[in-house]
Amino acid sequence: MKVSRKKQVLDVVALYPEVSQIGDARLRQAVVEIWQELWAQSKWNDIGAVPTSAEIPYSNLPHTQCVVAMALNVADAFRKYHNIEVNRDYLIAAAVLQDASKVVEYEPGPGGKVRRTRIGKSYPHGFWCAHLAVQKGVPDAISHVMLTHSSSAAKFPDTLEGKILYYVDQLDVIGIHKDRWKKHLMIAKVEN
Ligand SMILES: [Fe+2]
Repeated sequence: MKVSRKKQVLDVVALYPEVSQIGDARLRQAVVEIWQELWAQSKWNDIGAVPTSAEIPYSNLPHTQCVVAMALNVADAFRKYHNIEVNRDYLIAAAVLQDASKVVEYEPGPGGKVRRTRIGKSYPHGFWCAHLAVQKGVPDAISHVMLTHSSSAAKFPDTLEGKILYYVDQLDVIGIHKDRWKKHLMIAKVEN
């Protein structure tokens, strides 16, 4: 007889302690619940085994943990040197959630390979997490960051929080994988 083993609930705060710094209790709770729902839907049993992408076998967990830490350090530097304040609740929530969709976008395949799931093939990266966030009443500005943080997204993030995440995410990928960026002179500077 097959014994069904219920999957352990993910301890989101243990993985991402910065979640406890989110001041808005409803947002803090939503971040935890979204992660736990995605994890319940995931085919993975070890969160550390989920890769950064199909091309980048490095674990997504330390990648996201480093992205969260770097984003908050940039926010601290903006405050210290320029008196620029970012929305720290939004920054933490978006940083912790931006790659959470990966647990349902990928699944373990045969021979230790990673393959895309139906969700991973059907929707842009970040969409599945963003749609849960919208359902839970998470502010649109946070879902916007989830949907624009990837270099494959159709547009750049509009907000400072989103731009911080965009750049530190790409910087971390350079650290854990390789520099995939080229400078193209046809990119024009917009004056307004
Ligand atoms: Fe991502």
